[in-house]
Amino acid sequence: MRNGLTSEPAKQALPSSLLQWRSHALDSEARTLAAEMYTSPEIYRLEQKYVFGKTWFYVGHISQLQGPGSYFTVDIAEQPLVILQNRSGELRAFFNVCSHRAGPVAIDSGRCTHLTCHYHAWSFDLDGNLRGMPDMETAEGFDCASHGLTAVNIDTWGPFIFVNLDPTCAPLSAQLGELPELFDRYNLSNLARVHSVDYWSDVNWKVYTENTVESYHEPFVHKETWGKYYECTDTTAEARHYYYLQYAPFDSASWLTSTEAGIYIDTLNEYELNCAQMVCLFPNFTLVASPTYCVTFLFDPQGLSKTRMRMEWLVPNTEVAKSPENVEPLITFFDDLMQEDLKLLPTLQKGIQSMGFRPGRLSPKREMGVHLFQELVMKHIVSH
Ligand code: FES
Ligand SMILES: [Fe+2]
Repeated sequence: MRNGLTSEPAKQALPSSLLQWRSHALDSEARTLAAEMYTSPEIYRLEQKYVFGKTWFYVGHISQLQGPGSYFTVDIAEQPLVILQNRSGELRAFFNVCSHRAGPVAIDSGRCTHLTCHYHAWSFDLDGNLRGMPDMETAEGFDCASHGLTAVNIDTWGPFIFVNLDPTCAPLSAQLGELPELFDRYNLSNLARVHSVDYWSDVNWKVYTENTVESYHEPFVHKETWGKYYECTDTTAEARHYYYLQYAPFDSASWLTSTEAGIYIDTLNEYELNCAQMVCLFPNFTLVASPTYCVTFLFDPQGLSKTRMRMEWLVPNTEVAKSPENVEPLITFFDDLMQEDLKLLPTLQKGIQSMGFRPGRLSPKREMGVHLFQELVMKHIVSH
């Protein structure tokens, strides 16, 4: 089994706007990125390599696996991966790329004893070692040991599975910082995943993520959805390390304050019972945590101007919380919210691509998350 990527790519010349880039102070000079950051295929490739190729990114929920031999496939930032539990139940991740001629060794999800390539049936054990290859007896000097699957680092925060494609990466805990402690009382591992939906938008992935790491647009775009239940104008936020944290207090009229037994996450403190918290973890994960449900967002660049966003709903593992009467309004609520964003996002991409675009100033009060995410993207691709 080979471990991770095989070699460091050669240093390459950067587009001009990157060569001139320097970090900007939030209060005095922070402005949006240059248009080419959203339109250049070269920058997109650099982001694949130095953002998604170097950081821990979110791939899925632990309930997508069901014990030894279970697996699921993902294709995040156009990197095909298979996530599985080996015979001992330990998590493993590999590029879903056969060591023969790059065929897929797994499709969709399921359970297996071996991963078998769908092209010429080479088979691999659940630790990525090559175990079977038809009609290769005459290949002189063929070395099975050097034809394993390429392994990828894998780790979890509660039920959330992250991978890192860089074999020399720091542990996930270094990227998470204080998040596990901050969200400890939500008992994330005990929540049941009840629904999953993929949304697609014809925008660069940063247009979609930047829309999530700010509350600035909420009172205007989400007046009829989020604004009905939360005090958008009282939302507070902070951005540090690899994440943006946002606290939205309830409007007192909220239907989400139902006191029915089993609906609430019953381990929260007073503060958590009266707000929705959100964390956006660079580069592609968001968790909205409320007293009665959590929702996750997985951002997935699928091309320079195409982004998938997988949204999943988690509720307390009780019959009443999992019932359609409880879950369906939650799904509708977030779907309505997302439709409002999806209507707007392509117009932003169009504006950025237009001859009329020039970078604007950011609100230090409302857009510190946009600033942090943009600084992190730039630092990753400039400093490689
Ligand atoms: S590509 Fe996998 S066996 Fe040929
Ligand atoms: Fe929004």
